[in-house]
Amino acid sequence: MKNIIYISDLAKFVDQEVTLQGWLYNKRSSKKVKFLILRDGTGYLQCVTFIGNVSEEVFNLADSITQESSFRVTGKVKAEPRAVGGFELDVINIELISDSVDYPITPKEHGIEFLMDQRHLWVRSKKQVAILKIRHRIVKAIRDFFDERGFVLFDPPIITPNAVEGTSTLFETPYFDLGKAYLTQSGQLYAEAGAMALGKVYTFGPTFRAEKSKTRRHLTEFWMVEPEAAFYELDDVMDLAEEFLEYIVQTILEERKEELEILERDITKLQNVKRPFPRISYDEAVKLLHEKGHEFEYGNDLGAADETVISESYDRPVMVHRYPQQVKAFYMKRDPENDNLALGVDVLASEGYGEIIGGSQREDDINKLLERIKEHDLPQEFFEWYLDLRRFGSVPHSGFGLGLERTISWICGLDHLREAIPFPRMIYRNTP
Ligand code: 4AD
Ligand code: MG
Repeated sequence: MKNIIYISDLAKFVDQEVTLQGWLYNKRSSKKVKFLILRDGTGYLQCVTFIGNVSEEVFNLADSITQESSFRVTGKVKAEPRAVGGFELDVINIELISDSVDYPITPKEHGIEFLMDQRHLWVRSKKQVAILKIRHRIVKAIRDFFDERGFVLFDPPIITPNAVEGTSTLFETPYFDLGKAYLTQSGQLYAEAGAMALGKVYTFGPTFRAEKSKTRRHLTEFWMVEPEAAFYELDDVMDLAEEFLEYIVQTILEERKEELEILERDITKLQNVKRPFPRISYDEAVKLLHEKGHEFEYGNDLGAADETVISESYDRPVMVHRYPQQVKAFYMKRDPENDNLALGVDVLASEGYGEIIGGSQREDDINKLLERIKEHDLPQEFFEWYLDLRRFGSVPHSGFGLGLERTISWICGLDHLREAIPFPRMIYRNTP
C-alpha cells in the first residue's frame, strides 16, 4: 500500500506527511482539539486534530469516532518527547474504515471472568499486547539459545499411545480401530529417541494435562520446550538450565524494556537472574523448610506453598535436586549413592513463581527400566520402542522441560497463567 506506514516506523518520517491505519484506542477532547490515540499493533500514536486544520466533516468525525473503530489518518509527524512513543501526528485527514458500537471493554475496571469471556477482544488491550510481545520474544530466545548451541529441533507427535507423566492427567480420545489414544503430556520420550539419532535435540510445542486442580499455575494446554542430550548427566542438565534461564531473562530485559514498563514489572529482581544459581538437594530443602518453621513431611513432593518458602530464601532461581524416587516419574535414573533418590532437578523461579523447569538424568539400564515400568503399572507393550533405546547402544542421557506460560508469567509478573497464552484452556474454560 502506497505511503501507508506503521507506528513503529515513525522515526524515519519526522516532519513528513504520512498515512497510518488502525483502531481507536482512546480519545481525549476539548472544544477545539481532539486527541485520538491510534493503535496499529506496532505501537500507539496520539493524533492531534485541531479545529482549524481540518474540514468540518473531519473534525466532526474526530469528535464522534468511538473506541475500537478502525480508521485511516493522514498527517504530519512531529517529534514530541512528552507523547507516548515520542511522536505525535498533526492531523490533516481522517477516514473511517468501520465503526465499533458499544465496545464491551471500556477503560474502567472489569472482572476477570468477564474479560476471559471477551478474550478475543481483550487481547487488543495494552497490557495484553505487551504480554503477547514478550511471549513472542521468549519463544525466539528459546529457539536461538538451542539453535546456537547445536541442538536440533525434533518434533514429537501430539497423539500418543501412552502416558509420560503419570496416568491421572491424560486426555483420552477414541482412535479408529486401535482403541484409545492420548494427547501428549510431554515430548520427552520421543526426544530421547531423537537424542540417540542427533546427539542434542529439543522439542517445542503444545502439551496437555487433564489437571483437575484450579490453580493459578495450571493450564490444561500449555507449551513446553524440552532439550534432551546424549551423554549429559544431571550436573550437565543443571548447567544448561541455568545458562538457559539467564539467557532468556537477560534477553527480555534488553529487548522488551518498554513492554515490561507497561506491565509495571519490578525489573531489579529479574536483573539478579545470573549464574550461578544456588543448588540444593531435596534433603537440604526440607531442612530449610523446617528451619523456617514450615510444616512439611519428609518424602512428600514439594507443593506450591513449600516452593514459595524455599524460593523466598534466595534472590534468584534455585535448583532442587535428588528428590525421593517415589514422587518422581518412572524414567528417572536413581542416584548411585542412594537408591531412594531420583537424579532429578526442579528449578524454582524467584519471587514465589514456583517450578518452571523439571528435568532429570534418564534410566539407561534396560533391566532397571523394565522394573520401573512394572512398578508403575504401565503397559509394557507400548514402551517396547522406548526400551529399544536401551537395547541398541544405550548411553547416559538427560534433559528437562520448561513450561512456557509459567516462564512468561514469572517474567511479566502476572498472577495467573491465563494471561500468558492467547486463548487459555483450563478446567472450567474452553472458550472463546
Ligand atoms: O515437571 P514436568 O511434568 O516434566 C516433564 O514433563 C518432563 N517430561 C520434562 C523433561 O524432562 N523433558 O513438566 C515440566 C514443566 C514444569 O516445570 C512446568 O513449568 C510445566 O512444564 N508444566 C505446566 N505448565 C502449565 N500448566 C500445567 N498443567 C503444567 N504442568 C507442567
Ligand atoms: Mg515437575
